[in-house]
Amino acid sequence: MSALPSPRSVSAPLPLSRQAAAAPEQPISRLMADALDNPKLISLAAGFVDERSLPRKLVQRYAGRLLDDPHSGGQALQYGLAAGDRQLRQAIAARYFADRWPQRTDAMILTTGSNQLLHLISECLLEPDDIVLCAAPTYFVYLAVLRDLGVRAVSVESDEHGVCPEALERTLDDLSARGLRDRVKMLYLVPYFDNPAGVTMPEHRRRAIIAALGEQAELAPPIALLADNAYRDLRYDGADVPCFVDLGAEPDWTIETGTFSKNLSPGLRVGWGVLPEPLHTAVLRRKSVIDFGSPHFSQCVVRDIVADGQLDEHLQNDLLPTYRSKRDAMIDACQRYLSRFDGVHFQQPGGGLYVWLQVPEPLGTAAGSTLWETCVRHGVLYVPGGFCFASEGAPVQNNTMRLSFGVQPEPRIAEGIELLGQAIEEALRRV
Ligand SMILES: Cc1ncc(COP(=O)(O)O)c(C=O)c1O
Repeated sequence: MSALPSPRSVSAPLPLSRQAAAAPEQPISRLMADALDNPKLISLAAGFVDERSLPRKLVQRYAGRLLDDPHSGGQALQYGLAAGDRQLRQAIAARYFADRWPQRTDAMILTTGSNQLLHLISECLLEPDDIVLCAAPTYFVYLAVLRDLGVRAVSVESDEHGVCPEALERTLDDLSARGLRDRVKMLYLVPYFDNPAGVTMPEHRRRAIIAALGEQAELAPPIALLADNAYRDLRYDGADVPCFVDLGAEPDWTIETGTFSKNLSPGLRVGWGVLPEPLHTAVLRRKSVIDFGSPHFSQCVVRDIVADGQLDEHLQNDLLPTYRSKRDAMIDACQRYLSRFDGVHFQQPGGGLYVWLQVPEPLGTAAGSTLWETCVRHGVLYVPGGFCFASEGAPVQNNTMRLSFGVQPEPRIAEGIELLGQAIEEALRRV
């Protein structure tokens, strides 16, 4: 066997496009890399799901059943529709929407996870320097999508129920006074168990937001409402709340998205969204150019799991009990190890994967801060809250962090919070 030639650098690297060259590394990628490099570190940062409760057997059974049949197996391994498997779209429409709007299945697109859809929607709706309003704090990956497109994100004051309608109106008045109202194209919300704040917007608040956007649509070009329902099925307490279109949000300016990443498996990469025209056609055309449609095989597996009621079984029997007790473990540990500090604040989320923690004011949580360095030394990692705020609008709260209870088993969650308590104590002595 002849030896491979040793690599030599004979030419300059390929020059990248302006867009690629301008794309910054995601700060969160560095955090993840640090966590993976050091297996002793307890990462409460990663937003991954619990690996032991991923439905291996369920997916194996349904994938096997699909492939055992020459007809369904052949179809599943064939290209699908660019919009995604029709039966799965019908099942999603029936599962998540009370109002039986007949065109909903046709207005739905399945994508490679919902993140792809968030990007496609934003690409098709937004120009550089347009403005998207969002909660303070909000899903930081979506902030990166907006940055990638040169779009300005402006955060709107939010509380334990999400974005405040009065603050939304104030922000719009302020932008109008600055001649920027026409630039405001969208309000992005994560209405169920928000990432990162863990809050769910109650029905009355949703109605107030709908009314505010409805008024705007009468005065000027409508502002799209992008409701990202990624965590809707991960509810540990209380009853579900209807989504925006079921509460009367105008389908002409409302976009509802969701995903099977949190309630089933992120590895299957099945996301979905219901889009108004002409956005629906634009996204479909764009997606057809990019990939002709998302993996059909995954969609068929998810379709059959949902159709047989197995998604609900999995949620009720495995996922919800697992996450509920992890959530409880994190809240118990926060009470035990953190509530002794003046200025520490957290609340129990009714679902999702995150606890939003405020630490005593003199401390900052940014990467490189005293608290950050102390935490890394003590062996615990979090997401600095500052990542989750737009650079304009409501002030950045630098004394906050996102803690995830998705990945770590309960004893590690408790240990991680205990280490965090020790780090806060030490950092308070040093600032
Ligand atoms: C709020 C929110 N939206 C969307 C996504 C995207 O998930 P996926 O692309 O796996 O569907 C995530 C993932 O963490 C999320 O937290």
